[in-house]
Amino acid sequence: MTSLTLINRATCIFNTLIKLPATKQLVPFFPAYHQHYSVSSKQVSAKMATEKTLPEIFKYVDQNKDSYKQLLKEAVAIPSVSCDVKYRADCIRMVHWMQDKLKEVGATTELRDVGFQTIDGKDVQLPPVLVGVLGNDPKKNTVCIYGHLDVQPALKSDGWETEPFELVERNEKLYGRGSTDDKGPVLGWLHTINAYKGTGAELPVNLKFIFECMEESGSEGLDSLLMDKLKPEGFFDSVDYVCISDNYWLGTTKPCITYGLRGISYYFLEVECAKMDLHSGVYGGTVHEAMSDLIYLMNTLVDKDGKILVTDIYKSVAPLTETETKLYTTIDFDPEAYRKTIGAYKLAHNGVKEQLLMHRWRYPSLSLHGIEGAAFQPGAKTVVPGKVIGKFSVRLVPNQEPEEVEKLVFDYINKKWAERGSPNKMSITAQSGRAWTENPDHPHYQAAARATKLIYQTDPDMSREGGSIPVTITLQEASGKNVLLLPMGAGDDMAHSQNEKINVRNYIEGIKLFAAYLFEVGKLPK
Ligand code: BES
Ligand code: MN
Ligand code: MN
Repeated sequence: MTSLTLINRATCIFNTLIKLPATKQLVPFFPAYHQHYSVSSKQVSAKMATEKTLPEIFKYVDQNKDSYKQLLKEAVAIPSVSCDVKYRADCIRMVHWMQDKLKEVGATTELRDVGFQTIDGKDVQLPPVLVGVLGNDPKKNTVCIYGHLDVQPALKSDGWETEPFELVERNEKLYGRGSTDDKGPVLGWLHTINAYKGTGAELPVNLKFIFECMEESGSEGLDSLLMDKLKPEGFFDSVDYVCISDNYWLGTTKPCITYGLRGISYYFLEVECAKMDLHSGVYGGTVHEAMSDLIYLMNTLVDKDGKILVTDIYKSVAPLTETETKLYTTIDFDPEAYRKTIGAYKLAHNGVKEQLLMHRWRYPSLSLHGIEGAAFQPGAKTVVPGKVIGKFSVRLVPNQEPEEVEKLVFDYINKKWAERGSPNKMSITAQSGRAWTENPDHPHYQAAARATKLIYQTDPDMSREGGSIPVTITLQEASGKNVLLLPMGAGDDMAHSQNEKINVRNYIEGIKLFAAYLFEVGKLPK
């Protein structure tokens, strides 16, 4: 019997909302944050931010460098790995930790319950989403900031030079899981507020925060919190701009501001040939092996040059215009440096800059990620796996809709399965998030560009990214406002990889960048 299960999204049961009491508190002018990290400062009364404010803030940031590193060390030490339920308690602890820090800088916070996730038939509590507010001056612009506190898994044995959950400084770089993705940037916002307060300057904008701990696992529960709860409650009514710092420069020296992300459609392709694993000496030659079927199917998806073989998958991709073609030529991107950073033998598209950028940003790509149930550990295990799950994903671009791409992939796999003629059991499921693009000519982007120039003395490139942050488009729709990605880290930070790091310079100048950005947005007309 063959079967094809079409499930469009991982289902998730949202239980009733547990709204924790909002912590209304008197805002201590010099928050406990200082005492805790022994950052000294003198008591002055809050003054309007002026042109003189930023240099004072920059000085303050430099003086408090060590405490900012120390705080990142604490955050990295919490192994908030969202994809592994073993670490769920750490994810929850991470959110509480951040809530305490936000409170210390004077924000009003609440933890919003987003229900459960079903894993192997069991309901597992999702970490709460941290929602915060700081300031509600009707004369000021309001910026909504999003970031994530969860990280990808990491083991020293994966090939890390140091313990992944211990922040280690070496050669002006801070190594540790989450240092750049996304704990460093999230803490950057906190330090920015700390620096405004520490210099006695009033924040030039009101702030709203949404910090989650499930981004690396598809932000489960978050869309529904935003659209079905926060939006009707009026959370976005006062929001004028949305800013996310969860990406990286294109290279290692030139800053950028980002106006596009690819979406993602992630597939689990399961083939079962027997109810248990079998000794290949005893049973080999007598069963139709699941692994051979799976490898067959997976090998029909993409060719050696990266061209996706799924029928009609390129059909809805936005056509390339002449104006767009020109954009790629001026971007500062060095294919050879990029190749060296990742240690690749040869880049696709003959290493042509414009082609590489287009295939990262505006064309879909299909990657094969792994096989669950395969004997991947070292050693010559002689087993016929009874059930294997192949994992692959398609990065989505404008104007591909997840539902349409999922159907194309399901139909294609179904066709290939019929051609294979295997008697085994096959099923495929998908989880998807849409691509996002924004208007980079908006005054919001100009404000961020001025801030970037002030810090790095160069005009930033306007870039897009190949990665995905599923909530970006939801934030755009929920707020109806301009959304901007303001990266802190550099292009060689190696998020998700071994030896993830953030440069001390990017971390510290990044805090100043955020301060300058808030100042510039504060000057935009209400
Ligand atoms: N920070 C990344 C997204 C990103 C990566 C932006 C590269 C720009 C460049 C984010 O944490 C991430 O890894 N997202 C996942 C999303 C997925 C699990 C739904 C991704 O892109 O794989
Ligand atoms: Mn991230
Ligand atoms: Mn990530």
